[in-house]
Amino acid sequence: MNTNLARAASLGAAFLIMFLSGFWLNRKGKPYDTLIFTIHKMIGLGMGIFLYMTIRQIHRTASLDPIEILLVAFTVLSFLATVTTGSLLSVPVSKPMPDIVSTLNKIFPYITVLSTAITSYFLL
Ligand code: HEM
Repeated sequence: MNTNLARAASLGAAFLIMFLSGFWLNRKGKPYDTLIFTIHKMIGLGMGIFLYMTIRQIHRTASLDPIEILLVAFTVLSFLATVTTGSLLSVPVSKPMPDIVSTLNKIFPYITVLSTAITSYFLL
C-alpha cells in the first residue's frame, strides 16, 4: 500500500471511530462512559498530532498556493472548533452549556471531515 493510501485509510478509520464514539457519548449522556470518552479523546489527540505533522511536512517539502493555504487554515480551524466544543461539553459544571455549544459540536465534526477530504484531495 502506498503511503498516501495508508494515511487516507488510517484517517478514515480514525474519523469513523470518532463519529461512532461521539454518537455513543451523546446517546448515553453524562456522566460519560470513561472508556469510550478516553478512546474519543485519545484518538482526537492522535488526529491533532497527525494534522500538525502532516502540515509541517507539506510546509517543508512544497510551497502552497493561496487557495491551498486557505483550505489548510479552514481545516485546522474546524478541527479546533470540534475539539473546543467537545471539551466545553465535557467540563463538569453544574449549569449545562448553552445549546449553541451542543449544536456547534454536532455540526463541526461534519465540516471537519469534509474540509479534511477536500484539502487532502488537493494536497496529496
Ligand atoms: C479531543 C477533543 C474532543 C473532545 C474532548 C470531545 C468531546 C466530545 C463530547 C463530550 C461529546 C458528546 C457531546 C454530547 O453529549 O452532546 C462528543 C461528541 C461527538 N464528537 Fe467529540 N470530542 C473531541 C474531538 C472530536 C473530533 C476531533 C471529532 C471528529 C472530527 C469528534 C466528533 C464527535 C461527534 C461526531 C460527536 C457526536 C455529536 C452528535 O451528537 O451528533 N470529536 N465529543
